[in-house]
Amino acid sequence: MTIDQPVIAILGGSGALGSGLAWRWAAAGLPVIIGSRNQHKAEAAVTEISKQYEVTLKAGLDNRAAAEAGDILVLTVPFHHQTDLLNEIKEFAQGKIFIDVTVPLVPPKVTRVQMPKEGSAALITQNILGENVNVVSAFQNVAAANLQAKGSVDCDVLVTGDDLKAREKVIELAKLAGIQAYHAGPLDNSVAAEALTSILIHINKRYKGHAGIRVSGLGSRSDSE
Ligand SMILES: NC(=O)c1ccc[n+]([C@@H]2O[C@H](COP(=O)([O-])OP(=O)(O)OC[C@H]3O[C@@H](n4cnc5c(N)ncnc54)[C@H](OP(=O)(O)O)[C@@H]3O)[C@@H](O)[C@H]2O)c1
Repeated sequence: MTIDQPVIAILGGSGALGSGLAWRWAAAGLPVIIGSRNQHKAEAAVTEISKQYEVTLKAGLDNRAAAEAGDILVLTVPFHHQTDLLNEIKEFAQGKIFIDVTVPLVPPKVTRVQMPKEGSAALITQNILGENVNVVSAFQNVAAANLQAKGSVDCDVLVTGDDLKAREKVIELAKLAGIQAYHAGPLDNSVAAEALTSILIHINKRYKGHAGIRVSGLGSRSDSE
């Protein structure tokens, strides 16, 4: 790892949200690894993303190998699979920044806020990975379709986490992906961003779009973060 060029490993990166982040970070020149339950699927995703977006990805690996190889890990799997995957890769996350995008949706009522008894998906992640992992929660309110589309992203990102430097790194990564992101406080606050997603899904169904959020009222101060 170099300080400026951390290897980003996206666990579940073959999916909608993960692939949308992957091509954006790769386009910004970052080394990106796609993780999957199946190495062949990861390699196929790398081939597909590379072709579609004309970018170069570092590798496609199974999730454990990806977690071991990554300097910064990103979890992009559905809520129901979050716990199993975290337990599988826990040993490789120690000492690293771990970006959790999980929204605790409980089908079929995904337009209803249904937070887990632990408080939020991000707190589940922190509990499982332990205190040596800098869990940062982000990207819950960005539609995958907007990340997958080329061009700028019409949505801001709320970044929560207990370690200021880790939050700053994730805000920097969001910027590299073409997205404005904001400090939104400690990991306990992730519950608000996670809950908001069900509201956005409701709006999407009602108005047929890919709704996001915008933080207003900061003017140029948002650029100095
Ligand atoms: N989609 C959005 O617009 C959006 C927006 C904001 C936040 N999010 C959140 O981001 C996360 C990923 O969403 P997504 O839409 O990208 O999901 P997705 O495309 O349905 O799935 C992502 C990946 O999860 C992996 N996966 C599926 N079942 C699994 C299992 N049993 N164990 C481990 N991995 C499994 C699959 O990878 P492999 O088969 O390759 O292992 C799949 O490609 C979710 O928590 C979601 O709530 C999504």
